[in-house]
Amino acid sequence: MRFLLILSVALNLVPAPVEYTPERARTCFRKATAKLEPWQKQEAYRLTVKGDKVKIEALTKEGRFRAKTTLEQLRAMGKLPQGTILDYPRLRHRGLMIDESRSFKGKDFLKKQIDAMALLKLNVLHLHLDDSAGWRIEIDSYPDLTAKTAFRKGYTYHDWEAGKYQFSTQDDPDAYGGYYTKEDLKEIVQYAKERFITVIPEIEMPGHSMEVGYACPEVLCTLEDGTLCRGAWDLCPGSEATFRLLESVLEEVMDIFPSPFIHIGGDEATMKTWPDCPKCRKRMQEEGFTGVKQLQGYLVRRIEAFLRSHGRRIIGWDEILETGVPDGAVVQSWRGVEGGREASARGYDYIMSPNSHCYYNYYQDLIRKEPRAVGELVSLRFTYGYEPLGEGMSKEHLLGVQANLWTELIPTPEHAEYMLYPRLFALAETAWTPPEKKDYQSFRPRARMLLDVFRARGYNTFDMDTESELALSGFQRFEQLENHKKNGYKD
Ligand code: ACM
Ligand code: ZN
Repeated sequence: MRFLLILSVALNLVPAPVEYTPERARTCFRKATAKLEPWQKQEAYRLTVKGDKVKIEALTKEGRFRAKTTLEQLRAMGKLPQGTILDYPRLRHRGLMIDESRSFKGKDFLKKQIDAMALLKLNVLHLHLDDSAGWRIEIDSYPDLTAKTAFRKGYTYHDWEAGKYQFSTQDDPDAYGGYYTKEDLKEIVQYAKERFITVIPEIEMPGHSMEVGYACPEVLCTLEDGTLCRGAWDLCPGSEATFRLLESVLEEVMDIFPSPFIHIGGDEATMKTWPDCPKCRKRMQEEGFTGVKQLQGYLVRRIEAFLRSHGRRIIGWDEILETGVPDGAVVQSWRGVEGGREASARGYDYIMSPNSHCYYNYYQDLIRKEPRAVGELVSLRFTYGYEPLGEGMSKEHLLGVQANLWTELIPTPEHAEYMLYPRLFALAETAWTPPEKKDYQSFRPRARMLLDVFRARGYNTFDMDTESELALSGFQRFEQLENHKKNGYKD
């Protein structure tokens, strides 16, 4: 009977808390949290409900804020349960990345997602602010970045690609795009700060940078005869003009974003123009490099030193492991989990956002029932099952986990929300809840209830009620569908 009673008062809360008892706590709060890491204490809270009285205990304003989000969710999902919740985070970096370059969603959209993140106890919003498809941040020292590449011909990324990457200007009636002014971004940073969320800006380099070369051709490689390599994807690491631009941009970025971390991208440089560029060749000769790849390491080290001299740390996508990682850099694993594993083995701090589990631009259900997305199936159940601390990996160096939303195929705010919710609920639970307390059978009904709360608040969400058997089963790959069919599954 007593067992049943406890089951019936299981909490409607995502992420699930560390501890809940229907009784009142016996120990004092300081003692209950004494063994926690400092960053856990910062967010720890205890919530006691007795009759209609609610008591919050915390060591910081942040802890109080986390308790309030718990109260808000419990109230939105039903009656306040009697008893005590003791709660604190498992990981310190609980993030979401939004790609604002491929499709620009704007300030109101970001604030709405910050509200959602706060309710889910997420604490890092990573903004991908520039990529070949558009530069999205006002820069006083290089006004051409927004004047020439914040607008493009082509509403969707693929329209733009099909039209051969044409940029446009704001006064063109057919232009698509936009950018954030410094005031917009300061407002977003402040809005996030009030909800104890840090905004980490990403300025991408040296790949994914076609727009920079279009706006400021001095950062482009040249051929032997001086011809500019127009349309190049990579910046020229041989040119001092490249470093002048990057450092100047980063100075302005640091004025807007107080985050201790600045993301510098570092992924998917093609290095195609570097072998034939006299500036790159000269740099290689001076530095004694034997391959062009070392030019990427040179750029990363130089930018890292610059940012470190301003008191900031860099985060780079896992490609930075291939060309020498400066001490103090953080590696973000995206090509599966291997980058995280290697960073851990080599003693670097790392963040796990493997595309296999944490890319929410990937399909969340069968191809035939979903809007066009990217390859793999990352269903709610599959992403929920993700454990970021792989066997043998360093717990001390694991900063956290992050979901990434790339927007090549996601042109509208409604579509972006559809891809995020409820999968972001799963990410939040992986990031916050102790792994031994995670349980999909308990999570699913809570997620379903929370989805209704999100809908009532105006978020567009995926429909959990029509999820296919394949997605429900937790399979990842579509190839597995074939095997599944052989075992009696009907598509
Ligand atoms: C990435 O998805 N290229 C980081
Ligand atoms: Zn060059």
